Amino acid sequence: MGAKTKAIMAAGFALTVAIATNATAAEMAMYKVVKGESIPKSLTGKAGDPANGRKLAIDRKKGNCLACHVMPIPEQSFHGLVGPELKGVAGRLSEGEIRLRIVNSKIVNPDTIMPAFYKKDGLTRVLKKFKGKTMLSAAEVEDVVAYVKTLK
Ligand code: HEC
Repeated sequence: MGAKTKAIMAAGFALTVAIATNATAAEMAMYKVVKGESIPKSLTGKAGDPANGRKLAIDRKKGNCLACHVMPIPEQSFHGLVGPELKGVAGRLSEGEIRLRIVNSKIVNPDTIMPAFYKKDGLTRVLKKFKGKTMLSAAEVEDVVAYVKTLK
C-alpha cells in the first residue's frame, strides 16, 4: 500500500472516530474502556436484571445471541455454532470483559463478526431500523451482562 493510500485511510479513520465520539457525548451513556479489554463500570450505574437479560439473549429482534452461541437455554432448539459456547464464560472473563464484548466486541477483535450492541455509528450489516440507533439500550446491555455473569 502506498504512502498516499495510507494517509487517506488514516484521515478516514480519524473522521469516523470524531463522529462517533460526538454522538456518544450527545446521546449515549459514556463508558470507559480500561486497557483495551474491559468496561468495569455499569453503563447505567446500576446492576442489570439477569432474568430480562436471558429473554433479550433469546429475542431475535434484540440480543439474538443464540444465532451464534450455544447457551444453557434448553427450551430453545436452535443454537448457533459461529461463536464459542457461552456456558462457563463467566469463569473465563470478568464482568468488565463481558460488558466490553457486548458493547463492542470489535474493540477486542476488529475482525469479529459479533455485532456491536451498544454502538450506533459505523455499523455495517445492520437492518435499516437500527441505523442511527444502538441494537440494545444501556439498560438492556446491563441486563444481558447480568445474565452472562451467571454462566459460570
Ligand atoms: C453474528 C454472530 C454473533 C452474535 C449474534 C453474538 N455473538 Fe458473541 N461472539 C461471536 C463470535 C464469533 C465470538 C468469538 C470472539 C471473536 O470473534 O472475537 C463471540 C464472543 C463472545 C463472547 C466472548 C466469549 C469467550 O469465550 O471469550 C461473549 C461473552 C459473547 N460473544 C456474548 C454474546 C452475547 C451475550 C450475545 C448477544 C447479546 C452475542 N455474543 C451475540 C459471535 C456472535
